[in-house]
Amino acid sequence: MQIIKTIEELRPILKEFRRQGLRVGLVPTMGYLHEGHKSLIVKAVSENDRVIVSDFVNPTQFGVNEDLSSYPRDIERDAALCEEAGAALIFHPEPEEMYFPDNCTFVDMDQLTKGLCGKTRPTHFRGVCTVVSKLFHIVMPDRAYFGQKDAQQLAVIRRMVRDLNFDITIVGCPIVREADGLAMSSRNTYLSPEERKAALILHKSLQIGEEMMRAGERDALKIKTAIQANMETEVLARVDYVEIVDADSLEQVTIIEKPVLTATAVYIGNTRLIDNFTYEP
Ligand code: PAF
Repeated sequence: MQIIKTIEELRPILKEFRRQGLRVGLVPTMGYLHEGHKSLIVKAVSENDRVIVSDFVNPTQFGVNEDLSSYPRDIERDAALCEEAGAALIFHPEPEEMYFPDNCTFVDMDQLTKGLCGKTRPTHFRGVCTVVSKLFHIVMPDRAYFGQKDAQQLAVIRRMVRDLNFDITIVGCPIVREADGLAMSSRNTYLSPEERKAALILHKSLQIGEEMMRAGERDALKIKTAIQANMETEVLARVDYVEIVDADSLEQVTIIEKPVLTATAVYIGNTRLIDNFTYEP
């Protein structure tokens, strides 16, 4: 698997792909890849002639007290997974390659980024929008692939692509779960065995909400309360938020009439995990 570390090396390869009329797919990641990432790469491989996986722990999307320095990294393992999934190459820049020391240009968004994870992580989506825009400019893919597990991120990127006229199709891919239901995440690796068990509370509690919706309940507050109450039965869990929002605008809903996103963030010990489901009445 070819690991490209600089933009200068990457550009002629991409130019050649375009000269040959090849369709290019991009899978942006922060590395420490798992089966969830692999599903994105496999989908991208099925829809494009060449797939680039970016593997970059983006400093601008971490808050000051967050896990930038401890974020797990293993480029050799990532390269093996990319090879197996059929990617053409990995773009794995150093932070200095992506950001000039005096970088002062950011991509920010007024709406969609203030609620849900944006409440606890106020600068996170500015970092995500900035790095994803940079990757889009560098790679100029036909399609880019993002997981539905980061549902707010997916909605934010779709909106950014629309607002900034990127000629790129955004493909959202379903959440991949462990056999017991825990949504796959690179951060699951932080969990102790006891916390790993406790983390199942996210999916289990969301399932209660989904069952209520399927049974015809339309009062968002009642459903949120039931989800939150179930989360609180787990002593190792500290709920950051449980929200039911419009799946497109991410605005809070009171009565469920249109497709909604039910999303949660929960601290299990020191590890902040997210999960969600969408429901169309
Ligand atoms: O979802 C992620 O892993 C990151 O937020 C992304 C999209 C790769 C940007 O750094």
